[in-house]
Amino acid sequence: MPEDLLDAAFAARKCSHSPYSNFRVGAAVRTTDGRIFTGSNVESSSYGLTICAERLAICIAIHEGHKDITEIAVVADTSGAPGPCGACRQFMYDFAPTATVLMANLNGDRRTVNVGELIPWGFGPSDLLSFESRRGDSNE
Ligand code: THU
Repeated sequence: MPEDLLDAAFAARKCSHSPYSNFRVGAAVRTTDGRIFTGSNVESSSYGLTICAERLAICIAIHEGHKDITEIAVVADTSGAPGPCGACRQFMYDFAPTATVLMANLNGDRRTVNVGELIPWGFGPSDLLSFESRRGDSNE
């Protein structure tokens, strides 16, 4: 994965609004047309409403009309490479099921995996499509 996506994630991390956890996360996604979209974690005083860096970056790409995400970079100050939370793994599976994910900490530790490795046998859009096609077949 080219370094520019990681650089973008590092830069995004600086925008983190994380007064409650003081845990800053940056993320960047690349789309098929070569565009990069970034996000950082934005925390709410109602803690559960916090949005993670990865989901914000994906939402911004989608909102801007760039839906084909091929690469994702995540940066946080963890002891090893930072594994995304479960909610972000689901979001990746929804919107970037074939993407490569590069995770890096501030000490130079890195790990690269595919989304399928982060969320094996996930629930996704195709599960709802197969449900829709069966609607009305039975009462179950
Ligand atoms: N966080 C992320 O931004 N991404 C993750 O994958 C894990 C957690 C944020 C949410 C919260 O602001 C802080 O890190 C501590 O959980």
